[in-house]
Amino acid sequence: MSKLDYLRWLGVDALWLSPIYPSPMADFGYDISNFTDVHPLFGTLEDLDTLVRQAHQRDLKLILDFVPNHTSDEHPWFQQARQSRTNEKRDWYIWRDPAPDGGPANNWTSNFGGSAWQFDAQSGQYYLHLFDVKQPDLNWRNHEVRRAMFDVMRFWLDRGVDGFRVDVPGALLKDEQFRDNPLNPDWKAGDRPYTRQLSLYTEDQPGIHEIVREMRAVVDHYGERVLIGEIWPPMERMVQYYGEQLDEVHLPFNLQLVLRPTWEARTIRQIVDEYEGALPRGAWPNWVLSNHDRPRVATRLGREQARMAQMLFLTLRGTPTCYYGDEVGMQNVAISPELMQDPEGKENAQYSRDPERTPMQWESSPNAGFCPAGVRPWLPVADDFQTYNVAVEQHDPRSFLTLVRTLLTLRRALPALSMGSQQSIDQPNPTCFVYQRQHADEHCLVALNFSAQDQVVTLPEQGQGRLLLSTHLDREGPLPLSEVHLRGNEGLLIEFETHPPHV
Ligand code: GLC
Repeated sequence: MSKLDYLRWLGVDALWLSPIYPSPMADFGYDISNFTDVHPLFGTLEDLDTLVRQAHQRDLKLILDFVPNHTSDEHPWFQQARQSRTNEKRDWYIWRDPAPDGGPANNWTSNFGGSAWQFDAQSGQYYLHLFDVKQPDLNWRNHEVRRAMFDVMRFWLDRGVDGFRVDVPGALLKDEQFRDNPLNPDWKAGDRPYTRQLSLYTEDQPGIHEIVREMRAVVDHYGERVLIGEIWPPMERMVQYYGEQLDEVHLPFNLQLVLRPTWEARTIRQIVDEYEGALPRGAWPNWVLSNHDRPRVATRLGREQARMAQMLFLTLRGTPTCYYGDEVGMQNVAISPELMQDPEGKENAQYSRDPERTPMQWESSPNAGFCPAGVRPWLPVADDFQTYNVAVEQHDPRSFLTLVRTLLTLRRALPALSMGSQQSIDQPNPTCFVYQRQHADEHCLVALNFSAQDQVVTLPEQGQGRLLLSTHLDREGPLPLSEVHLRGNEGLLIEFETHPPHV
């Protein structure tokens, strides 16, 4: 609550909380044992109400995580379901008899490794869990389940939350015939075990879009609320979740910048152009640069490139979703095996998501101000927290945080950035990506150097621009457009005053 003013100061419009519900914390709160309450670790329902109120007083929206695919195995629904094959809640989950050899009914694997089926000795059947064994999948073919989960949405919407980020909506329906998933021909040793199979029969099944449309209808009933979907690439898949009539999620998360293995000007331009080209008419774009499931951007690219990446992220057309701490340049923290919390990490240390989930770095005091000194946070604080934290960076005119805040301020001030068109600009230097944003007669140019060396960008037209911002935060003012000089890892935001280049 005490940090809401910070978010406003930074220029944030909406806050998404990952799950805050009662949970045994087998998967950092994504294993929910009660969908309509708050985990005591985070406070009470009344605290949540106060948070909503205080956020709204500051013109901040509050978005919750909605996890419809599974519950915790400690949820009363599952406790009942596992009591017997005839229990009235039995069909709320997905059960199969053992195969003739006693093993699971098919080859489906869990996202966290191993079979997606767990044998339940008491009732002699296997239950399905596409994630951790403590996260049994709900059976969305059962209409009582649908009704119960839509009621969960209403419970929170009635309390005033502004919408949901929906966890793995594409996985809600599974193949009715439970056919084996085919092997992925492109899988190679070292890739995530889960990607060894193609999710042909466990994702995007017929009927799924109807369910997402129903969710949207629940939300639309409340007026101005938002539905965001965690949809993984490929792009063709992602854009389908806008809905044919733009009647599914408002924003299917665009995770391409997070997942693309190569970070080079050409590839990023390709992503931007393909995405812009694939968006259905009238759909609003969005970008994600880091999240709680993948290494942080400042670790993937290093802090120098990460500054440039922030300029890209915050000047592309569409809504950016910033992961906490990225704004101060937080990096992943190595977590020793005995401190590991993440079920995926316990299964496969190299894929642990704990390193990107360490405490927010607020200040230089013990525990970085995340929790009182003397209390041990569930994951350790980064070693460099005394250099990279909000309190220190707020007073440094060239810090990472100052850069992010300035970008957000410019974004708000310039309609070209907040709502203008997006157009890539050809230019001969392969290490740089240049694009134009335009709204009415306001033109902005963004020039990004993906290399650590100085580069020159030549634009097709002469003319005079005005440099609004360098990611190095050390220059601004008039700038000739014909030949733009960039230092290593530098990004420039330029406003045209005359003669915009042809695109
Ligand atoms: C989503 C979440 C991830 C979680 C999983 C299971 O992918 O982002 O953190 O482990 O769903 O709920």
